[in-house]
Amino acid sequence: MVVQLLFSYNAKSNNFCGFTRLWQLCRHLMVFSGFNRDTFQMAEDLKIVVNSTKEEQYISLLPQIEGLLFGEDDLIANLANVAAALKEQFNWFWVGFYLVKNETLVLGPFQGPVACTRIQKGRGVCGSAWEKAETIIVADVDQFPGHIACSSASKSEIVVPLFSGAQVVGVLDVDSDQLDHFDDVDRLYLNKIVKLLYA
Ligand code: SME
Repeated sequence: MVVQLLFSYNAKSNNFCGFTRLWQLCRHLMVFSGFNRDTFQMAEDLKIVVNSTKEEQYISLLPQIEGLLFGEDDLIANLANVAAALKEQFNWFWVGFYLVKNETLVLGPFQGPVACTRIQKGRGVCGSAWEKAETIIVADVDQFPGHIACSSASKSEIVVPLFSGAQVVGVLDVDSDQLDHFDDVDRLYLNKIVKLLYA
């Protein structure tokens, strides 16, 4: 009952009862009290929503991702599970992370075909999102100057920066094999999801 209450937060705003700080405090108290994510949710419990709008799919997935991350502080483990959960729900062509290491983006956990391992600041969509510290949506990758084609099957793309404080520490990159696949709904929810990684 208490656990149910603690998880019944507003997925749309990523708030608990409208209070992000209260929700964060609850989570920290639960971790401090010895709970971990396996107390509440096994990984194989991921519920995939079909035949619904993209927004409904994100709304279903967001609290589940929060459950997967709960009580686990290993970044690579969390990035791997987020990439897997997104791939499972949306079946995008490629979804994964690049992390800033020695002033270069280096390939991190991902789902999909093999990909380029290093991207310089300002290069391609990922390097541009890093440099500008903002989400970039590309409807047609062939029209994006300097796009890095890890696969010719990729047609459109969204890249969302990961922030630790004010600093960009990596990016989430999603590729689709369809043109014009991403919009402001993806921008909104993918930003909510990456914020969970450094909450
Ligand atoms: N297309 C990206 C490179 C990464 S792959 O798509 C996985 C870019 O232009 O930065």
